[in-house]
Amino acid sequence: SPAKMVKICCIGAGYVGGPTMAVIALKCPSIEVAVVDISVSRITAWNSDQLPIYEPGLDDVVKSCRGKNLFFSTDVEKHVAEADIIFVSVNTPTKTRGLGAGKAADLTYWESAARMIADVSKSDKIVVEKSTVPVKTAEAIEKILTHNSKGINYQILSNPEFLAEGTAIDDLFAPDRVLIGGRETPEGQKAIQTLKNVYANWVPEERIICTNLWSAELSKLAANAFLAQRISSVNAMSALCEATGADVAEVSHAVGKDSRIGPKFLNASVGFGGSCFQKDILNLVYICECNGLPEVANYWKQVIKVNDYQKSRFVNRIVSSMFNTVSGKKIAILGFAFKKDTGDTRETPAIDVCKGLLGDNAHLRIYDPQVTEDQIQKDLSMNKFDWDHPVHLQPINPSSVNQVSVEADAYAAAKGAHGLCILTEWDEFKTLDYRKIYESMPKPAFVFDGRNVVKADELREIGFVVYSIGKPL
Ligand code: NAD
Ligand code: UGA
Repeated sequence: SPAKMVKICCIGAGYVGGPTMAVIALKCPSIEVAVVDISVSRITAWNSDQLPIYEPGLDDVVKSCRGKNLFFSTDVEKHVAEADIIFVSVNTPTKTRGLGAGKAADLTYWESAARMIADVSKSDKIVVEKSTVPVKTAEAIEKILTHNSKGINYQILSNPEFLAEGTAIDDLFAPDRVLIGGRETPEGQKAIQTLKNVYANWVPEERIICTNLWSAELSKLAANAFLAQRISSVNAMSALCEATGADVAEVSHAVGKDSRIGPKFLNASVGFGGSCFQKDILNLVYICECNGLPEVANYWKQVIKVNDYQKSRFVNRIVSSMFNTVSGKKIAILGFAFKKDTGDTRETPAIDVCKGLLGDNAHLRIYDPQVTEDQIQKDLSMNKFDWDHPVHLQPINPSSVNQVSVEADAYAAAKGAHGLCILTEWDEFKTLDYRKIYESMPKPAFVFDGRNVVKADELREIGFVVYSIGKPL
């Protein structure tokens, strides 16, 4: 019960910290929630009318609690010192250098948050891992906190987040489950109960799962690995469909009708993107290797290999269809975000596809309804894995910038283009006036649908040469 007034602080005002805390504030009016970040620009944006992330429904939730029981602040130390429960929701990117580079999770941001908590705390704290972290991180965090303590009692909980971008608010309002892991001691169980009481304000009790710390940490990596594996499975089938005349949509439908398999998450695509699937699987692979389990590591590695294969297969298909060269040709790119209903471009397959085409000297005209020009130019000039390390942003490479323009709508992007690639499944791409687009393009006019959003037959009727993923030509 929310009888005792608790104060919550969340370190990290990103895609997870912002929406999660806004929903806690909305559902628990008696709890004061402060979201803190070292990024001044992010906090300024959270306090403005233009929130730093685009997420359907988020504006309403923030507007109804901001300034009442929801606060965004850069005064990290003050809010941490005052809180009873501290969520840590900082970024946990893939390491770019040193031991485990390209695979292991970089816990620098986490460690500095933990050291700061140890420095400023004057009362007992429950510290909650909200970020996705390697199994056994709680042990390391515990060491940092307790070795610095001045008689203060810290309880570490693992409470991984399962929301997906684009549906974050719905996912938070009605989660499939909330997972809380803690120590099996009386103090650990008491901490679990305190956090459970927060969620019990709106989540039915049977959906709150309590486990030990390591199960909770590993379940998060496992869930993302299973989800990504489904996409790589259906994408692997899409290649076989193209080779045999089967239609991947029909295969997915037939397979998904088996109630043991289920129909969700079986859409073939140009590849999965997003900040987490690849990073979390690489992390899982690294943990398996460190624990002497190379066969298990190799099993999961294949999920990423198939995803890379799917992206390069798509680029090869474009180039080979357009008479083996795209040099000097204009190609319209519709959609840059890693999925619809988000402006997030982290690890979007569009980056790899665009870089592949730029490598062959194509000229790209890019349109996405939610991604800024600045973001697109940055993404196309950054090295792999640097994107989630905000401090060392790479300078823009001027040669590729000339080859890229960002357009205000799909029609402007398509005008004069030899080919059109759909890389994000935005709803608006389903209802474009493709006849008008066809007329504005040199012939033969190609469509490469990386998300299977267009009606290929209708477009062929107009005159387009259409390539869809996993479908007969
Ligand atoms: P993000 O990069 O959007 O946000 C992280 C924020 O933490 C940044 O604003 C950064 O400035 C801040 N930060 C870093 N170090 C700090 C410090 N020492 N003190 C204060 N602020 C600090 O990241 P995100 O997408 O919100 O992801 C956060 C974590 O949640 C990751 O571990 C990720 O794997 C996990 N996760 C993400 C999603 C998702 O959909 N994005 C879903 C589930 C889990
Ligand atoms: C994913 C998980 O779905 C969340 O449960 C998890 O919390 C989150 O990762 C995380 O840990 O960060 P997210 O990456 O936001 O969420 O979005 P998804 O809907 O999972 O899509 C990921 C990628 O897979 C997108 O590029 C999407 O287009 C692609 N996808 C998804 C497919 O290609 N086919 C599908 O059938 C489904």
